[in-house]
Amino acid sequence: TVSFRLGIAGLGTVGAAVVRMVERRRAAFTAAGLDLRVTAVSSRDRTRDRGLDLAGIEWFDDPVALARSGSVDCVVELIGGAEGPAKAVVEAALDAGKPVVTANKALLARHGAALATRAEDKGVALAFEAAVAGGIPVIKTLREGLPGNTISRVYGILNGTCNYILSRMEREGLTFEACLKDAQALGYAEADPTFDVEGFDTAHKLAILTSLAFGTAVDAEGVSVEGISRVQPLDLRMADELGYRIKLLGVAQAAEAGIEQRVHPTMVPKSSAIAQVMGVTNAVTIDADAVGELTLIGPGAGGEATASAVVADIADVARGVIRPTFGIPAAAMRPSERVEMQRH
Ligand code: NDP
Ligand code: HSE
Repeated sequence: TVSFRLGIAGLGTVGAAVVRMVERRRAAFTAAGLDLRVTAVSSRDRTRDRGLDLAGIEWFDDPVALARSGSVDCVVELIGGAEGPAKAVVEAALDAGKPVVTANKALLARHGAALATRAEDKGVALAFEAAVAGGIPVIKTLREGLPGNTISRVYGILNGTCNYILSRMEREGLTFEACLKDAQALGYAEADPTFDVEGFDTAHKLAILTSLAFGTAVDAEGVSVEGISRVQPLDLRMADELGYRIKLLGVAQAAEAGIEQRVHPTMVPKSSAIAQVMGVTNAVTIDADAVGELTLIGPGAGGEATASAVVADIADVARGVIRPTFGIPAAAMRPSERVEMQRH
């Protein structure tokens, strides 16, 4: 049996769900030869009731101290944000030679290449299944599932909050503001929902997918971005009358000048498969030469679905099946070309 002690930094929507899931699935993991245990947690507010039994679990006010603690084998970063405590925790863990599991796409989109190099130098895993498309195992698919293929395009609905808002505005005639409020209450939105509705979260996820699909360094700055905050109910009605739905899509495709990356509201025919994807659901389509078109559909946000991806990473790291590299070794990553977009 492999014994693996987990330190969870951040006990919000995802962190609390991970603590519960590790406990709930303990017997199944034990049967599979894994003794997974949460031994340490960190959050800002020690007094808040999170519905968790934290008896026997060490509390750290400082998540960096948790990362360095001798009672933690693997650090699970669920604080969020590209800088600040999240980055400090991940760096401290890697520097201490500990594997990291994170759901933090903002961090990876800005510092992914540097963190991957750090992980490689230490020979420890940097796992991030939950960072893209919530519960859909798309990172595993791209990292491990398609080595015989050349990928020409990856695209999809990568933000649950935006798809939830657009779906409810269209179906129920609700206002943008009311739908966003509900998405926040359900734990789908980012701490700053501007990241969702202005398309930046989709851009972060797309940059990660681009790196894995095309072997480029992660670079969200190279993504052309427009969000959904200016989409009006009238736009949705007009699209509907013409036989279309509006979806926020992230698209990365090989073009002559390099890899074109863009995020914007897109009219899709109502009869298309992607138009059927409603609510918090995400969909990712990969166009590859050997398999053709592959589409993964599933929950894009929410505590349980995201915890499912985090726990999958934890189990893989414990079993030693995740490599330290991001997709390919950092030294072999090509710089991501910035392709000027033509507006269509
Ligand atoms: P929340 O805002 O719900 O939780 C963040 C947690 O971090 C809180 O528990 C907060 O503490 C804690 N925290 C903040 N600052 C510190 C600090 N300095 N030290 C210790 N703890 C701190 O976020 P989510 O759970 O929604 O998201 C977590 C991560 O997962 C983010 O990177 C997000 O982008 C990503 N993600 C989220 C998904 C979702 O559906 N929610 C889906 C996929 C990825 P306290 O509670 O005490 O205030
Ligand atoms: N805020 C994100 C979303 C969480 O709505 O998709 C999942 O990454």
